[in-house]
Amino acid sequence: MRVLVTAGPTREPLDPVRFLGNRSSGRMGYSIARALLARGHEVILVSGPTSLKPPKGVVLEAVETGRQMLTACRKHWKTCDALFGVAAVADYRPAKVSKRKLKKTENVSKTLELVSNPDILATLARSKGKRLAFGFALESGSGLTEALRKLRDKNLDWIALNGPEAQGSKISSLRVLGADGSDHLLGPANKEALARTLVRTALGSNY
Ligand code: C5P
Repeated sequence: MRVLVTAGPTREPLDPVRFLGNRSSGRMGYSIARALLARGHEVILVSGPTSLKPPKGVVLEAVETGRQMLTACRKHWKTCDALFGVAAVADYRPAKVSKRKLKKTENVSKTLELVSNPDILATLARSKGKRLAFGFALESGSGLTEALRKLRDKNLDWIALNGPEAQGSKISSLRVLGADGSDHLLGPANKEALARTLVRTALGSNY
């Protein structure tokens, strides 16, 4: 199969030197890309800025902002059979991006106006037809109700629920929920091992 994977954080610029970002390392997405490659799939990895080496054999699309990620994903989604949305896309971006570095004395009110970013996974999954869509939900607290809502609202086949401690960590635990009502607890384990189990669970042993 040809599989599209989003990974890493996005950076939403404020001016040429500053951005809004998050703590995602990209490790889970890159591990999923490696697990897919190991099973013989073709992988398009659309990645925000990370310090990781791209897995050997992926087609890498390096992007910075959520909107760039959506454009790159749209281009490849037409020819892909499955999507793993693992990126920590910023929900909001600054409404205005200054062409030059903002000075300390500017923006005196210190209020940052934000606008919503597109939801990449939901946008692509809503037009998926019979193709497979897998998402993540990072929630503090139990998060089960939220994860199930996202599974349904974003038209996903699977969602993996994890907590904030997963960010930047090499080890994680996941609760993988299927649209068919299935429920799997994975880990704690390193993200490479988790990714292999998760891919096998989502694609079945035939793929
Ligand atoms: O709604 P929430 O951000 O919690 O959803 C998380 C899932 O949606 C993740 O799989 C993430 O990759 C994806 N997502 C996305 N684009 C966004 C926000 C989230 O693809 N703007």
